Amino acid sequence: MSRKFFVGGNWKLNGDKKSLGELMDTMNAAKVDPNVEVVCGAPSIYLDFVRSKLDAKFGVAAQNCYKVAKGAFTGEISPVMIKDCGVNWVILGHSRDATSSERLIGQKTAHALESGLSVIACIGEKLDEREGGITEKVVFAQTKVIADNVKDWSKVVLAYEPVWAIGTGKTASPQQAQEVHDKLRGWLKANVSEAVASSVRIIYGGSVTGATCKELASQKDVDGFLVGGASLKPEIIEIINAKL
Ligand code: G3P
Repeated sequence: MSRKFFVGGNWKLNGDKKSLGELMDTMNAAKVDPNVEVVCGAPSIYLDFVRSKLDAKFGVAAQNCYKVAKGAFTGEISPVMIKDCGVNWVILGHSRDATSSERLIGQKTAHALESGLSVIACIGEKLDEREGGITEKVVFAQTKVIADNVKDWSKVVLAYEPVWAIGTGKTASPQQAQEVHDKLRGWLKANVSEAVASSVRIIYGGSVTGATCKELASQKDVDGFLVGGASLKPEIIEIINAKL
């Protein structure tokens, strides 16, 4: 089963209309591999602006959403509002911040999918969990939370983001990434289905750069990237074209 390569950019809490406008001008003008699906995760306040300025060949994602459509939830944004901005993706479970319990991530995943969004579902172990030899146990449990809330896996991309590699400049080795991606695909095969295991994109995130992307992209079970810091630089074009 061939899986379309996927490169997500996670702009996190960065940029303003000027800098993000310049980044989008660079992306819109660049020659990019047409066989790669590209989605940019923008700060919520700029979703409308980004969607209106970024070429339609690129997708846009919110960086989080709430678990219900509306109500007295100050500061939250709902999938309905995200879609109202012409945005079709949302990143969920990113680096498991303290406010997002596993149960809440599951509820958000279910609601986002029911509302018609596609989800970049993030999982990943902390350094002490890797050093303690429980990486598999941790990422399998996180994947189960996602899987228990998914009916249509064609709307889900699974992002393995070891927390110890996020923003640290310390990238997982291609072998480390491939090992976990292979285990995750095995978990999906055993717990969901062989068809889902072979079709779902499992992407890697954690200090991906122009220098590290090609070897990572050559790994059998690495179907793309979720890129933080480098997604805010022209370097993102090199990462999108990693398979060329
Ligand atoms: O979601 C992607 C992000 O967590 C990775 O960040 O800066 O390590 O590429 P960075």
